[in-house]
Amino acid sequence: MAIRKIRVDDDPILRKKSRPVEAFDERLFELLDDMKDTLARADGIGLAAPQIGVLRRVVVIDMGEGQGPVELINPEILETKGEQVADEACLSLPHKAGKTLRPMAVKVRAQNRNGNWVLYEGSDLKARCFCHEIDHLDGKLYTDSLAPGEHVYQVDD
Ligand code: NI
Repeated sequence: MAIRKIRVDDDPILRKKSRPVEAFDERLFELLDDMKDTLARADGIGLAAPQIGVLRRVVVIDMGEGQGPVELINPEILETKGEQVADEACLSLPHKAGKTLRPMAVKVRAQNRNGNWVLYEGSDLKARCFCHEIDHLDGKLYTDSLAPGEHVYQVDD
């Protein structure tokens, strides 16, 4: 278990496409555990592997619902419903935020660390989080999904 360095701002790795996970082995478990440690230390709700410099399709999400972080391997959005416009921020773009246009609800499937497929549903903040983290795996940042007329603004934190 270790805290990994979060890549920020114009680090080119944030714009690269991640490859699917094929081996559900110790190396993957170590990556997942490190991502959970790194997410907890950064006090975030989601982290994607490219944010720590690993171009693999792995995401951890912790909405603070009490059951601990969810591990999403090779996640895919299966279905979206409605729209929402709300503030979004990213651990890789410190001191910034912006209003994005996202689906109001999403259905996602992803593998767990044993390789089994699991179905997830989320609305509101959870839907934004799923979309945001899965976008990271394709080199996209929330700044690519701003609602019409919105712009990124500075946040003091
Ligand atoms: Ni992010």
